Amino acid sequence: MTSPFLGTYERTGTELFKRLRRLRMTETFRSMVRETELSRNDFIYPLFVVPGEKIRHEVKSMPGVFQLSVDQLVLECVEVKNLGIPAVILFGIPKEKDDVGSGAYDEHGIVQTAVRAIKKEIPELVGITDVCLCEYTSHGHCGIVRGNEILNDESIELLAKEALTHAQAGADIVAPSDMFDGRIQAIRRTLDENNLRNTPIMSYAAKYASGFYGPFRDAAESTPKFGDRRSHQMDPANSNEALREVEEDILEGADIVMVKPALSYLDIIRRVKDRFGMPTAAYNVSGEYSMIKAAGRNGWIDEQRVMMETLTSMKRAGADLILTYFAKEAARLLP
Ligand code: PBG
Repeated sequence: MTSPFLGTYERTGTELFKRLRRLRMTETFRSMVRETELSRNDFIYPLFVVPGEKIRHEVKSMPGVFQLSVDQLVLECVEVKNLGIPAVILFGIPKEKDDVGSGAYDEHGIVQTAVRAIKKEIPELVGITDVCLCEYTSHGHCGIVRGNEILNDESIELLAKEALTHAQAGADIVAPSDMFDGRIQAIRRTLDENNLRNTPIMSYAAKYASGFYGPFRDAAESTPKFGDRRSHQMDPANSNEALREVEEDILEGADIVMVKPALSYLDIIRRVKDRFGMPTAAYNVSGEYSMIKAAGRNGWIDEQRVMMETLTSMKRAGADLILTYFAKEAARLLP
């Protein structure tokens, strides 16, 4: 008999087949041989911050997810920390948008203000900031636009400025989500020149042009007014290209690499983890969340069970960290 695991071997005893069910017979056996375990330490909780006070506005397409003013955001962060979740990632919706996304790199901008408040009240909570222009530009694109072109090199200068103001406001990690070329190097250089050598970069390294971001664009009010993001985000059909994207970001100085979305890209997570062995994050995006919520609300699936199963699949695929709107609910269910 030849097996890919055991090589050539002879079967012992009188059995003609393996009884793999033996170790599934009790929950204790199952837990003893379980290969993958979710932990609260894996989770990063995304939060949306808006100007104003006492605002808690539920996002229609994302039940349980809110746009929060800074005072409410701080309360939410206390709850997140008390649930044992180590980190949040912040997305800002500015009061005003313009064609160069000025609010993104304003030291008194919405995210900068929010980070300062969080780090003052809950210094132990890791504050990550999403670095992108799409929430701040009037056209909803991730960078500067000329005619129909989304410009690369002009945009990465602004992203570096944005990352710098986030880090100066106290962000523990900056997370560029734009997918322009060379932005990790530009950000790393700017942080280093400003004495922020120890601020890590979590790069959205393999980010696909995905239909699963729909609900997020409601939450972040960042739907592009014309065109789409296909000239910078990746084609969902590609896998080798993801390795080239990730390799480039590592060489430019990324500390954590992310694959996004997660569920339709578990093969990419596995390849990235196997190839580079880097701290690897998976973004369980808005559409993945909303689908489970919607089916759960209709009574078509067991929502909690499917939530835990999908989060476990991301970990099993090789993710060390999972950005997920389910973080609080999952943390409550974990032992
Ligand atoms: C861009 C950004 C997006 C998401 C995170 N950062 C949207 C986009 O690229 O259009 C999507 C996250 C989600 O769908 O949950 N700033």
